[in-house]
Parts: sequence; structure tokens; C-alpha cells
Amino acid sequence: MVVAIDGPAGAGKSTVARATARALGFTYLDSGAMYRAAALTLLEEGGAASESAERLQIDVGERVIANGRDVTEAIRTPEVSEAASRIATNEKVRAALVAKQRALLESGDWVAEGRDIGTVVAPEAEVKVFLTASPEERARRRADELRADLETVQRDQALRDAQDEGREHSPLRPAAGAIELDTSGLSVEQVVERIASLARAARMG
Ligand code: DC
Repeated sequence: MVVAIDGPAGAGKSTVARATARALGFTYLDSGAMYRAAALTLLEEGGAASESAERLQIDVGERVIANGRDVTEAIRTPEVSEAASRIATNEKVRAALVAKQRALLESGDWVAEGRDIGTVVAPEAEVKVFLTASPEERARRRADELRADLETVQRDQALRDAQDEGREHSPLRPAAGAIELDTSGLSVEQVVERIASLARAARMG
């Protein structure tokens, strides 16, 4: 079974997806980590973005191991965030990473998180959720998480939102049949419980 959780940066996807996977006993897939790892390789080694994506050997568990190296922290810098958002507009990069994600999701039970899980990677997912939060709340969460300046985070976020929503290939939007969940003012536990009960209901039905 696949539970797809999509939405913009800062909506709480990672925290919620991780906790939902734990609550259900499913495996967590952070698809953004794949875009980030491909971007890191590109920044370090140069060449074509599509080659970085195609060659990427990645294990996205508790730690993110890319091409044999632990990049868990290295992929979270602002430079990598920006580069990941940029290469995510490239059709060949997306095709390469989507293929890797589909191969993983083929068997087992997953909570997969990203931007296009419900629309492109796993449109047949039994549960699809589109998480949102107000731009202010999203920026506040990111700034706390990165211990960064709120105004800078807000500006970067607006740029990345425009890039993620406006790109030609797989722009960020809710999938058909997705349940939209605004997490502003909700606790992580409340959001997790909501999604976990959707998954349990889907399993029964
Ligand atoms: O969720 P994140 O911030 O780690 O994602 C990093 C970048 O990768 C972000 O700009 C959007 C892109 N991305 C994507 O296009 N499709 C996905 N399934 C996941 C991430």
C-alpha cells in the first residue's frame, strides 16, 4: 500500500510523513532527498544534471547514503535546496528519479513524500494527501528548523514555490482524489492521526 503525501516546502511533510510511517509500520520514502542528492553530486562534480540523476545510487533510510557516502546533513544546505529546486525542472532528471521511486514503491507498504507522488510517481496510491499551511507558518517552521533568518527564508521560499508551481514538467498541484489538509494550527499528532486513519480505512475497504 502507498500513502502519498505531497505539498510545498514547510507544510510539515517530512515530520508528518516520518511519523505516519512509524504509526502505521510502513517504510518512509523522502523523494526530495533524491533531488537533493543529485543536486549535491552536480554541485561537487559538475557535468549534466541528468547524468547526476541517472547515476545516483541512493538509499534513503534513517540516513541518506548517496553513491556510497552519507550525505544526510550535506543535502540540507541552502545551496543544495536551491540547486535541487532548479534541477527538479529538468525533464530527464525527473524521469530518472521517478523511475527509481517507482521501483521502490512496487512492493511493500510505504509513506512516500514529495511534490508529485500522487500525480506522477504513484497515481494509483490508495491514500493521497496534499499538505498545505499558510506561507507565514511554513516560513516560520523552516526558519526554526534551519536556525535561519525569517525574512531570508520567506524570500527563498517564495522563489522556490514559484519555481516548483510554475515549472513545465510535473508542477506542484494536488492529485486527483487527494485530500487537502491545511496543517496551520494543527499539531503533528493531529495530522498524523488523520492520515493514519485514512490509511486504515483504505486497508479495510
Ligand atoms: O522536499 P524537499 O525540500 O527536500 O525537495 C527538494 C526539491 O526537490 C524541491 O525544490 C522540490 C523538488 N522535488 C520535486 O520536484 N519532486 C519531488 N517528488 C520531491 C522534491
